[in-house]
Amino acid sequence: MERQSVSPETLAAQALGEADPASGGLAPVINLSTNYEQQPDGSYRQGRVYTRADNPTSEQAERLLAALEGGGCACALFGSGMAAATAVFQSLLPGDHVLVSRVLYWGVRKWLAEFALTWGLDVEFTDTADLAAVAAAVRPGRTRLLWVETPANPMWEITDLAAVCELAHSAGVRVAVDNTVATPVLTRPFEHGADLVVHSATKYLNGHGDVLAGAVLAARRDPFWDRIRSWRRNAGAMPGPFEAWLLQRGMRTLFLRVHRASDTAQAIATHFDGHPALAAVLYPGLPSHPGQAGCSPCGWRAGPGPRTPCWALSGCSSAPPRWAGWRA
Ligand SMILES: Cc1ncc(COP(=O)(O)O)c(C=O)c1O
Repeated sequence: MERQSVSPETLAAQALGEADPASGGLAPVINLSTNYEQQPDGSYRQGRVYTRADNPTSEQAERLLAALEGGGCACALFGSGMAAATAVFQSLLPGDHVLVSRVLYWGVRKWLAEFALTWGLDVEFTDTADLAAVAAAVRPGRTRLLWVETPANPMWEITDLAAVCELAHSAGVRVAVDNTVATPVLTRPFEHGADLVVHSATKYLNGHGDVLAGAVLAARRDPFWDRIRSWRRNAGAMPGPFEAWLLQRGMRTLFLRVHRASDTAQAIATHFDGHPALAAVLYPGLPSHPGQAGCSPCGWRAGPGPRTPCWALSGCSSAPPRWAGWRA
């Protein structure tokens, strides 16, 4: 199939439309083999040696996700979103300074707090929605990574990706974007200058609550990308083939699910906005949300159309927050 002429929706629905070369089957097969045939001369026919490094079923899901994120990017699946995120941090070197969104998924924050210091990373949290704060925090020659989550879980803060990437790049800083919440349906960070995209595929990408998986994608196949792939192989962070197969199957309905969930979240947020029992409804699709101001360059779509889930915080500060439209 000529890919350029096919919409992302169709690419996803057909899982790239690839037929199995052995049978002609249109649904991909699951390749469970852990080892690959070695030739008499010691070589491996298709370059694959062992499934901890390479697996055709994972590669199928990787090609599909790379096509959805666009820009000719490279993709590596991981056993979870946390395995993917930590592979990026662990591919840095001791002493590297890292800037991280102040609001971000608690698991990444906890991992950074527990392990980044012993790893030798100098981690600094900053408000990535505030360009002046990011500019002030960058240490030229020392900052190696800016980690942005947008919309950021759980407060849904929005970072202007194009602006923050331009700022970071002017100081030689690589930008990684956790795109779990937006998915490539709502935001394609490479189009805004991101160098790396990270996913918890456990969430919307798979979408059926039956797969734990993650992914790292890179705009360029450079030495840092090689280190991330090498980390996956050596640390054993590869997902199982069945998870990879389920993930490609889940991604077939990604567009339908995200559009529907977004419309539902918008309706819930609109309904509860201003409710007397609630202190706030945090949802970027509401006109009152700070992320609405000048959204279009952020890679975030304002106006009617797809949106993310919303949080509705209860007014009682002693009770855990109650929320609508989102299942963690
Ligand atoms: C934004 C975000 N990033 C990363 C993760 C971690 O992913 P996983 O649970 O697949 O390890 C999550 C999980 O909820 C998440 O919401």
